[in-house]
Amino acid sequence: MGAAAPVKPTPILHVTGARPNFPKAAPVIAALATLDLAQTLVHTGQHYDDRMSEVFFRELGLPTPDINLGVGSGSHAVQTAAIMVGLEELMMAAPPELVVVYGDVNSTVAAALVAAKLHIPVAHVEAGLRSFDMTMPEEVNRRLTDQLSDLLLVTSRDAIGHLEREGIQSDRIHFVGNPMIDTLLAHLDSFDVDKARRDHQLTDQFVVATLHRPGNVDDEASAQSLVRVLHEIADRLEVVFPLHPRGRARLEAAGLSQHSRIRVVDPLGYTEFISLVRGSAAVVTDSGGVQEETTVLGVPCLTLRPNTERPVTITDGTNQLVTVDSVVAAVDAVLARQDHDQRVPELWDGSAGVRIAAVINNFLQQRRTGLPSMPVEG
Ligand code: UD1
Ligand code: UDP
Repeated sequence: MGAAAPVKPTPILHVTGARPNFPKAAPVIAALATLDLAQTLVHTGQHYDDRMSEVFFRELGLPTPDINLGVGSGSHAVQTAAIMVGLEELMMAAPPELVVVYGDVNSTVAAALVAAKLHIPVAHVEAGLRSFDMTMPEEVNRRLTDQLSDLLLVTSRDAIGHLEREGIQSDRIHFVGNPMIDTLLAHLDSFDVDKARRDHQLTDQFVVATLHRPGNVDDEASAQSLVRVLHEIADRLEVVFPLHPRGRARLEAAGLSQHSRIRVVDPLGYTEFISLVRGSAAVVTDSGGVQEETTVLGVPCLTLRPNTERPVTITDGTNQLVTVDSVVAAVDAVLARQDHDQRVPELWDGSAGVRIAAVINNFLQQRRTGLPSMPVEG
């Protein structure tokens, strides 16, 4: 994998780079392949540890990236700029007809900026989510990416209203469902809760915890508060914590592992991670994707954030927002409850990838022939 130009120009260039991109891209790439559309997959190298990147390619049937830009870590400007420089070189050497970007990471906005300035259309998968919290880098990335995109592929109806209020024309917005959930449903048979329990020596009820947002792990005081409440939760039941590299040093310095019922482990592969989530009594998280996965699995999700860009996981799913002051009581309440109110959100049905591929195919046909587009949503 080198940073060379693609061998031949292909109509569709997918840009991925960070862990949450991979389960979103897999069903889209698979569905486009059935339409016989040639595709190029770029990995920016934003995430690079095996456990943050390659494990997903092995487990999710993603093709090996055609190009890996190898940008690695850095400040926002350093990382975003490096991705832009690499992508500009690629897109100028072999301009695609469409660039497909995913979610809200730095790789997403970098790709959208480069493509827009080269007059290459952009499709944004998971457009229109809003936390209305501009202190989150993801909110900045999403808003800019949406403004630069030609196809806005949304996972929930609330996103349509957000985009329309920001002046985006309705005919560019397509409600297609959630490709992250396609991946979840496609792998349901491979989630082995008993094995995951055995592998992590879990004997009773347990909580899965994942925390990596800058607002939670980037300063010492909030890391210490988190560790304090995680220890209180561990006084009640076992806790498995696959630790994202971002927070590792601070959470460990705050004593995370120093409780006999907390198992701190490296980031897990997808199958092992979701197997644990599926078998857990509750999840404590600040992850975007995990809020969605728990909703579909029916596992109570306690989101340690002041807001969520995924409110459908609260209205229809198992999610609730908590603070460091309320999370322990929320765990107690969840453990005391027998059943949980839950509906699966609209179009989170395993067919989002197919819908996205149809929208993209239609868009490309329309550009090639100049004929008006056909409605393709379900
Ligand atoms: C990024 C996304 C965030 C997403 C998260 C998913 C941005 C701005 N943020 O955050 O929206 O929720 O990915 O996991 O794009 N590191 C490693 N190994 C790796 C990757 C990172 O050790 O393979 C460490 C480095 O010290 C790095 C830090 O993690 O500086 C943060 O990585 P970065 O990609 O900048 O942001 P994330 O916090 O991972
Ligand atoms: N995930 C995983 N192993 C882990 C943690 C997460 O496989 O140890 C998966 C999980 O499916 C999740 C996805 O990675 O939805 C993206 O997670 P992350 O929290 O990194 O990103 P976010 O969705 O918050 O941007």
